[in-house]
Parts: sequence; C-alpha cells; structure tokens
Amino acid sequence: MRPRVWVSQPLFGDIVGRLREHFDVIETAAVGKHPQDEIAAMLASCDGALVTLNDRIGAAEIANAPRLRAIANVGVGYNNLDVPALTHAGILVTNTPDVLTETTADFGFALMMAAARRITEAERWLRDGQWKQWSFETMLGGDVHGTTLGILGMGRIGQAIACRAAGFRMRVLYHNRSRLRADVEGTCRAQYVDFDMLLAQADHLVLVLPYSPAVHQIVNADAIAKMKPTATLTNIARGGIVDEDALADALESGRLAAAGLDVYEGEPAINPRLLALRNVVLTPHIASGSLATRRAMVSLAVENLTAALGVGPRAGDPPTPVNASALDWSRKPGISK
Ligand code: DGY
Repeated sequence: MRPRVWVSQPLFGDIVGRLREHFDVIETAAVGKHPQDEIAAMLASCDGALVTLNDRIGAAEIANAPRLRAIANVGVGYNNLDVPALTHAGILVTNTPDVLTETTADFGFALMMAAARRITEAERWLRDGQWKQWSFETMLGGDVHGTTLGILGMGRIGQAIACRAAGFRMRVLYHNRSRLRADVEGTCRAQYVDFDMLLAQADHLVLVLPYSPAVHQIVNADAIAKMKPTATLTNIARGGIVDEDALADALESGRLAAAGLDVYEGEPAINPRLLALRNVVLTPHIASGSLATRRAMVSLAVENLTAALGVGPRAGDPPTPVNASALDWSRKPGISK
C-alpha cells in the first residue's frame, strides 16, 4: 500500500503534484483553518502531512494517528506545531528556512520604510481626494537613511535586514538570545546590545525573532515606554510578540511615531484599534510572499516530506528538519510506532 499524505491547504498544484509519484495524496480544496477534530480525522489515516500556519497540531490532533511519521510545515516559523509533543510521538517536523530569507528581509525593510515615510497613509489621503494643493509640510515623515536600526532576533532574516541597512548608512544594533560570532557581526556591521539599550537607541525597531511563549508580548507597554517617541516599530515575526493594545495606546497618544505590522495575534482578525489608526501600515502576513519564494517554500516542503517518509533522492535525509531526533523513526518506512 502506498503511504498516504494530507496537503492541508491548496498550494501550488504543479509542485504538490510531485508527491503523487510516491504517495496517495489527499488535497484540500479551500484555504482555511480546519477544526481540531477535522485535523485529527485526517491525520488518523495518514503517514505524512504538508501543513501551514493555519493548522495547529499538537498532542490532541495526533492522538489517533498511529501511522503519522512526518509533518512538513510550509513556513520557517512553526509555532503552529507543538514540537515537543510531536517529537515525543516520533513524528518528524520540518520547516522552510533559507529559501525565504531575502524576500522576507526585503519586505521587512519596505514595511519599515512605509511606516517611517507614511506611504500608505499618504496614498489613502490622496485617494480620498484630500490633496487640494501641493504644500511643503504635507505628510512629513521620519528619515530612514543615517538613523539607527534596531533588530530584535538576529537569525538569517535579521542578518539579511542588517545587510540592507548598510546601503542606507544606518547604524545597526541587535539583540538576540545569543550573541553572533564576531565575523558575522562584522559582515552585518551590527553591534550587540541588551534589550533595553536596543529599545532606547533604535529609531526603527524591527522584530524578526521566532515566537515562543517566552517572548509572548515581550514588546509591551514597559518596552514601548523605553523607545524614542519618534521611533517606528515593525513586526514581521509573529503577532503574539507585541501587546497590540499597548501598541495602539502608544500610536494613539504619539508615544510612538508609527508602526508597520504584517502579523497579528489573532490573525486574520485585526485589533479594531489598530484598524482605526492612520499611523500604522497593516499588511496580511505576506512578508515571504513573492511568487518565486512561496513556490520555493512549497518545493522545499515537498522535498522534506518525501525524504522524511523515506523515498526520493534524499530518502531519510530531509533537507531542513526541526526535530532531527525524531528522524530515526521517520526514516524507517512502514514502521509501526
Ligand atoms: C513563515 O515562514 O513563518 C511565514 O510567517 C509564513 O508562514
């Protein structure tokens, strides 16, 4: 019997179609968040799954999935998956790093610039027919070039943003769980500082750290109070990192100049206070969304799933495992756990 895999969202059909060479594939017709019992029912009869951040999978969803050996997440962030629970069950998890680094960094930089220079606010104002007369003082924003960029989370994407900053002659400060090697700091022209210093010094603070409960709302009212009132805050990581009400307070009161948000705690629902503000640029979680990159992410996920289920050119050796310790289980086709 051929292994069976579930593709939880409609993804590029031509790429996902490669799975059919080795597996029976159950595709999903519509985009959406599947209820927990639907995910559990799907996983119950599958050997593998290709999922996205729409799909939350933990102990409950895999409780009756004896065949399940691998979950390939299409995304670098995998906070939708309870990795300890999946690892405990011997299920390999993979993600899609690297292929999205530059595209996501481009977008983070663009969002930061849009917030600083009030680009979407200005466009809305113009489209509303409010531009009656050219004026010297219309929509004055903050500069980007020559200012201090603060990066919270200095992984691959943070480093790629730092590299872009050089072209804008920005001073780059970063804070990260661990300090980078000196040669990497040199390449990024970035200086390590503690979190408080990052908040205090940044003219533009960009969040690029992975979400975990330990960083839940790490950017809260206290943190924002340490920032410059002229600063901008850009979040391309995960919504839960920012206390959105505290951010709305700061943007409403002028305690913070502007924000650029691509991610939200309850997405796709957006805090109505943010929707009502003009000094925040809001985008629908599209930082990695260039066509080429989204295709590359699906391609990598397909390669991961195929290899994790022990077939294809990299059988047993998926390119980007998250919990490689589960690999011993997954590389043995047909193993019963
Ligand atoms: C990622 O890759 O984590 C993006 O947020 C899209 O899932």
